[in-house]
Amino acid sequence: MKAIQFLGPKSNPQITLNPSYPDLPPPTGSQILIKVYSAGITHDEINWPEVYKTTSHIPGHDVSGVITALGPSYTGPLKVGDAVYAMLHVDRGQGQAEYVLVDGEEEEVVRKPGSLSHAQAAALPIPVLTAWEALFVHAGEESLGKKKGTRVLVTGASGAVGLILVQLARLKFGGGLDIVALASEGNFERLRELGASECVDYKVPDWEEKVGKVDVVIDMAGGEVLAKAWEVVKSPGGVIVTVADPAPAWAFGKAVPEELEMHPGVRAVYFVIGLNAEALKEVGELIDLGKIKALPVVEFPVEKALDAWEFAGQRSRNGKVVINFV
Ligand SMILES: NC(=O)c1ccc[n+]([C@@H]2O[C@H](COP(=O)([O-])OP(=O)(O)OC[C@H]3O[C@@H](n4cnc5c(N)ncnc54)[C@H](OP(=O)(O)O)[C@@H]3O)[C@@H](O)[C@H]2O)c1
Repeated sequence: MKAIQFLGPKSNPQITLNPSYPDLPPPTGSQILIKVYSAGITHDEINWPEVYKTTSHIPGHDVSGVITALGPSYTGPLKVGDAVYAMLHVDRGQGQAEYVLVDGEEEEVVRKPGSLSHAQAAALPIPVLTAWEALFVHAGEESLGKKKGTRVLVTGASGAVGLILVQLARLKFGGGLDIVALASEGNFERLRELGASECVDYKVPDWEEKVGKVDVVIDMAGGEVLAKAWEVVKSPGGVIVTVADPAPAWAFGKAVPEELEMHPGVRAVYFVIGLNAEALKEVGELIDLGKIKALPVVEFPVEKALDAWEFAGQRSRNGKVVINFV
């Protein structure tokens, strides 16, 4: 089967298209075999350690396709022939291939939203689950939904995670939440349509002064943007949730953020997403109902997979990059 592979060491990986990677064995236990129609690219995955630990070195956690076989002990609701979309566990991945095996007992796979193409669906799982977990688990209703006029700054708002997060925040927390979107100016109109109350251009010096004080920051940009986020979040009592790569020095409990000295009483969280089939299902239904808009996608055929990876690494590309295997 055709598969994308990272070859060489993590310090200098080569992205390759293998036209004859060995076919997968039939599913065992509760595994599900999916024929992958489309797979999304998260370019930072090239720096994630997990893919280098697999024997295949096949990247890819976001897929959409059709079930071709079920393991003998699978007892869930899905059937052969169902169109599904899935987020493959961060430790397993291997979705950028013509076939992938997923674990039917884990929360990896659900039916694809019927209104979306496979390419549109493959763009969604990581952005949806990251946005969901940032809003409802790590920032939480306590911080976001408590009182009218609560302000949340969303950085990287025009990216894949940000576009979903702005919509989910507006839908779930209503008009009382003030959503400040940090993005380049060309994306302001789209962000306002999706639910942002205010838009600020991160390319303007001292953008933090335009933002003013916020209760919560949800950060998809990292680096200097995250450093400035500490200046705008309320201290004490504010919350910073970040997922941006590379992770801050204090992530994974390695240290206490040194910024806390100047900004005491701020709760700072970095997380790596987990699986959540219920969230994938619910957002899929909201998309089918027209309450959440799907992401813009830029599609490449598998033969152009290396171009797809290169394009996915560019800034301001205005769309989630997807490789089509069918
Ligand atoms: N920890 C986790 O579990 C997890 C899960 C998902 C994603 N992530 C990470 O989260 C980040 C966002 O993911 P994504 O898929 O949404 O990425 P994306 O689609 O590439 O979007 C990134 C966004 O950030 C903006 N941006 C880039 N550099 C910036 C800067 N210096 N200052 C301000 N904004 C900047 C971009 O705006 P312009 O295009 O206008 O420049 C773009 O809108 C990535 O680092 C990704 O690896 C982590």
